[in-house]
Amino acid sequence: MAPQPLSLTLTAFIIFFSLILTSSAADDDHQFEFMDVAAALNQARQVFSPPNTPSTTVLPQQQLDGSPSLSLTIHPRHSLPSARPTTANYTALTLSRLARDQSRVHSLLLRHSLSLSRSSASEFSPQQFQSPVTSGIRLGSGEYFARIGVGRPSKDFYMVVDTGSDISWLQCQPCSTCYDQADPIFNPSASASYRPLPCAAPQCSALEVSACRTDSCLYQVSYGDGSYTVGNFATETVTFGATGSVPNVAIGCGHHNEGLFAGAAGLLGLGGGTLSLNSQIKAASFSYCLVNRDSSSSSTLEFNSARASDAVLAPLLTNPRINTYHFVALNGINVGGRPVNFSPDLLDIGGDGRGGVIIDSGTAVTRLRSEVYNSVRDAFAGMARDLPAASGFSLFDTCYDLSRMTTVRVPTVSLQFAGGKAVPLRPSNFLIPVDDAGKYCFAFAATSGSLSIIGNVQQQGTRVSYDLANKVVGFSPNKC
Ligand SMILES: *[C@@H]1O[C@H](CO)[C@@H](O)[C@H](O)[C@H]1NC(C)=O
Repeated sequence: MAPQPLSLTLTAFIIFFSLILTSSAADDDHQFEFMDVAAALNQARQVFSPPNTPSTTVLPQQQLDGSPSLSLTIHPRHSLPSARPTTANYTALTLSRLARDQSRVHSLLLRHSLSLSRSSASEFSPQQFQSPVTSGIRLGSGEYFARIGVGRPSKDFYMVVDTGSDISWLQCQPCSTCYDQADPIFNPSASASYRPLPCAAPQCSALEVSACRTDSCLYQVSYGDGSYTVGNFATETVTFGATGSVPNVAIGCGHHNEGLFAGAAGLLGLGGGTLSLNSQIKAASFSYCLVNRDSSSSSTLEFNSARASDAVLAPLLTNPRINTYHFVALNGINVGGRPVNFSPDLLDIGGDGRGGVIIDSGTAVTRLRSEVYNSVRDAFAGMARDLPAASGFSLFDTCYDLSRMTTVRVPTVSLQFAGGKAVPLRPSNFLIPVDDAGKYCFAFAATSGSLSIIGNVQQQGTRVSYDLANKVVGFSPNKC
């Protein structure tokens, strides 16, 4: 019997639809996706227009079994009035961001190598207080800022959000040395809840560098880029918008502070050590979503809130030599839907504490140890041959001139974590504008050290949930 035209059409339909279904189900296998060049450029240009007044009210969020859920607003750097770019030159802005980023990475690597070489717990050295580290390049740390209340009555402050360190501190009156900040400087004598810690307090013993003056505990933190803070270690009440407050949180009340922290009043340490804010408030988890660095909108930093059900989970690892950094089990990187070929042990934590991959809120561009970076870059460039190449820019060696294009087809990139799941990146997470004329660069770079770092360009637009109780990190795309 001759085939009926109708059944032929039906067969064609079935084949067609099953192809569509197969390709959308196997999302990780997508080789290419499209990027809206014009939209990214428009956003880059908007960085110089006046920002909306940041909103600071955060309403109570969904609660996770018993522990109160606490929430703060979080803003990209340039929405702070005092950190606004002074000239409307996006090239210059990008260069200063990348210089700051190099200095950030330098300080993370330095801390990592010091922790590896430390034979015993570092001893207190009083002379460090007499002559604090001289200030180096004053680039200013911090790419994202949270608004948090300190004291009673509570006053709000912009604080750098830092998952790469533990101690929270803010500039304190009387100032022996304070840099300029957006908010009035905290005055401990105007707060009913301020209590200096005695030298015998366990929080004082937990400090890496401490000293004792007239039975008051002194702290010092140096960030390796020349910036530092020294002052009294004290307990205070910390207020999370309208969502609640926590008493007796140990924070540094800094009377000597150097290094321009871009107008922030201080820093929130969200590391894995016992003195971090998350450890002190016994948070089972915290999460943040970082909006695009060029955007003027804000997002939230939440403690103890439920994780999105669609989150891709990856194991959080412990490095016995350094508990401050959040190590994550990154196994590989896929480009164009295929694993890039490199030895997976290049990303492992070695028996000596070397190596490993940390996830960091303060580093912008993901750094990979050079063997890994070279393979990833070659895989990307090989598949992006259609794009017009341009010269390198600062720490980027793979750039494209997209000035004559509105939409381009780019290879997909995803991060492959232990456990089999991959986190797909959006094109804006790996191809970023470096000027306002249409030059874009592949936003990964090599490090000289053994430590690799997942930076915030790659995290933008994704809610990153650190489930500290269950030792996993969750990634939920499009959850800002
Ligand atoms: C913008 O800054 C870059 C880098 O500092 C400089 O080379 C360029 O001339 C500047 N452009 C304008 C229009 O000022």
